This record gives sequence, C-alpha cells and structure tokens, in this order.
Amino acid sequence: MSKRKIVHVVGARPNFMKIAPVMRAIERLGCAEQRLVHTGQHYDFSMSDVFFTDLGMPRADIHLGVGSGSHAEQTAKVMVEFERVCLEQKPDMVVVAGDVNSTMACAIDCAKLRVPCAHVEAGLRSFDLDMPEEVNRMVTDRLCEILLTPSADGDENLRREGTPEERIFRVGNVMIDSLLAHLPKAKATASPARLGVEPGRYALLTLHRPSNVDDRRVLGGLLDALAQIQLVLPIVFPVHPRTRKRLDEFGLGPRVAAMKALTLCEPLGYLEFLGLTSQAKLILTDSGGLQEESTALGIPCLTLRENTERPITVAQGTNTLVGRDPAVIVSEAKRVIDGHGKAGRIPELWDGKASERVARVLRDWHRV
Ligand code: UD1
Repeated sequence: MSKRKIVHVVGARPNFMKIAPVMRAIERLGCAEQRLVHTGQHYDFSMSDVFFTDLGMPRADIHLGVGSGSHAEQTAKVMVEFERVCLEQKPDMVVVAGDVNSTMACAIDCAKLRVPCAHVEAGLRSFDLDMPEEVNRMVTDRLCEILLTPSADGDENLRREGTPEERIFRVGNVMIDSLLAHLPKAKATASPARLGVEPGRYALLTLHRPSNVDDRRVLGGLLDALAQIQLVLPIVFPVHPRTRKRLDEFGLGPRVAAMKALTLCEPLGYLEFLGLTSQAKLILTDSGGLQEESTALGIPCLTLRENTERPITVAQGTNTLVGRDPAVIVSEAKRVIDGHGKAGRIPELWDGKASERVARVLRDWHRV
C-alpha cells in the first residue's frame, strides 16, 4: 500500500511550535509522505523564519505569501491559494493547528474539496465572539473530521455542539512537547542576561490581542498598571508588530520610555523567548499559548483578559484571569511578587508525548 500524503499548514507564529513536533512524530512512525505549506500570514524574520531554525523544522515546501490584510482579505487569499495547492498536491489528509485565520481558511477549503482535515488543538472555546479566533475555532471544528483535543474541556465543548463522538480524539497538548524538548537549549541562550535582568527576578509581558491594543483607553490603562508593577519588579516586553504600531499611533511612546524598569525588545525567537519565560518570576500576558506554557513551567501567570479558551490553566494550572482593570492587575501582581502566586499542577496528557498520540491517530484513521 502506498504511503498516505499529509499536507501540514502553518501560517502565524503560534502554529510553528504545534506543527513541528507533529511532523517529527509522523516522520518517526514512517507512515506518511509529508509536505509543509506556509500561508505567509506572518512574514517577518522574527515572527516566522527564526522559528524554523529554533525548532529544527523543515523549510516549507510551498509558500503562499498571503501577508497582512483585513480578516476577509487574509482568509480569502489563503482559501484561493490553498485550494490550488490541494488540487495540485492531492493530499490524503491536511493538518491545521490552533485558531488563526490561516487555520480556518484551509479547513474550509478541505471541507469543500472533501479532503479529510485534522485540527490540532480542537475544542477550545472562549465563548466570546468579539475574539476573531473564536469564530475561527468554531468554524474549523465544525468542518474538520479529526478533532485532536488538548484537554477534557475541549471534548465537552465539542460534544455540546453535537460533534459525533468518532471525530474526537484527546491527545494532550502538542505545544508542551515542543517546550519540554527545547527547555535545556532555551535556558542556555541566557536571554535574561542579554535583556539586562536576573533569572527569577523579572516579569515577562506580552500583549497583542486587538481588544487590548487597538483601543487607546484600554492600552493606556494597561500601561498605568505596568508603571506601578515595574517599580517593584523589572518587566521585559517583547513587542508584537501590531502593538508596536498602536503604541506609535496613539502617541504612547513617551509614557513607555518613562518607565525605567520596563525593557522593550523586538519579538524573540522560540529559544530565546522560552529562555525568558522559563526563568521569569511572573508572566503577564493576553496570549493563549503563554497561559499554557506558564502552567507547564509552574510559573504564575496573570492573564490580562476577561475570559480564556484555556480554562484548565486556571482550574489546574498557574493562571489567574485578572481582566484589564489596572488596580486589580497591580494588586494581583503584588501578591505574586510577595510569593503568593498559584503553584498549580500539570494537566493530564501535557507530558511531552502528545504529538506521538497525534501521529498514531492520523496513521490509524479511516473515514467511516
Ligand atoms: C495573529 C492571530 C492570533 C495570534 C497572533 C500571534 C488571527 C485572527 N490572529 O494575530 O490569533 O495570537 O497572530 O502573533 O489569525 N505584522 C507584521 N509582521 C508579521 C505579521 C504581522 O508586521 O510578520 C503586522 C501587520 O501589520 C499586521 C498585524 O501585525 O497587520 C497583525 O497581524 P495579523 O496576522 O493580521 O494578526 P496578529 O495580530 O498577528
């Protein structure tokens, strides 16, 4: 019997660390011929290329070069280009990951072309349709035939939406596979020293959600909180391109510059960033992935959002939802700094072996 042909899709920064271990696990099983497609949703060196080197990932076989645009433009461009890829490559299966526009666009193509599509990180829900990612998650999960979930809440969400049981496969968290595999190398990068902070004595901050950075008042409020926190604990802030643009547009540069213990830097590669995450005292973020990574590392995380699609990080891990009220953010940060942060535990199947389970599911799957 000839090998199955699997096409994997990556597009934006949070996809790379999810697809890399899955491709490696399939390679080890030797059960498929693999191709990698990069949609080009993220295109800067620091948002894309550096991850391929850091994660030891093969270069993309096909690059769609879609770039930035409105949601409709970006989604439509990916759909047009990826449809062509499917018609040319004739994959037996497509693998998409996470919740970015590229994920949904390719899942729609597959559904129309009747190509089986597997979704890595299925079932997560914030129940907040103000988040563009929530639309992407819902549409992707409705259309994919193989739903690979990281945790039991994912299974429950899918069941509640009427997903047939035979589509749901709980495999655990593939991103934690990448984290555990790269942790020693990441620590060896000594990224805290490069950014002028001491291991265990700084907070790491990321901010990029449109709901936090696209509104001047909200972003200004978050800066008020940071101004207080940096007085007691230095903060390192790798700045996402979207956020950099907004800080400039809103004329907030001088306020940021006035905070002496807030260090801004460009977006970092996977290893340098994990080096910073793993040695932080506190993590402040609105990212989905970082909520999981901090739980896996046992480092207290304050999530600057009103909700999360990753409730297990709050129920079992080190995550606390603090919203965007500056007073609440500052008081919760001080609790952590005083040593009262959550200890948490590692959720089931976040064990570094999730991608092996994904590979076995994909090898054994047949359309019923
Ligand atoms: C996207 C994802 C989000 C994910 C985030 C991680 C969607 C809907 N959103 O958001 O889920 O958490 O990636 O970063 O898919 N830009 C650059 N260089 C780049 C990429 C982007 O300068 O390499 C700038 C562009 O001006 C662009 C803006 O950042 O317009 C936003 O990029 P986009 O891909 O549209 O969304 P993100 O905010 O990055």
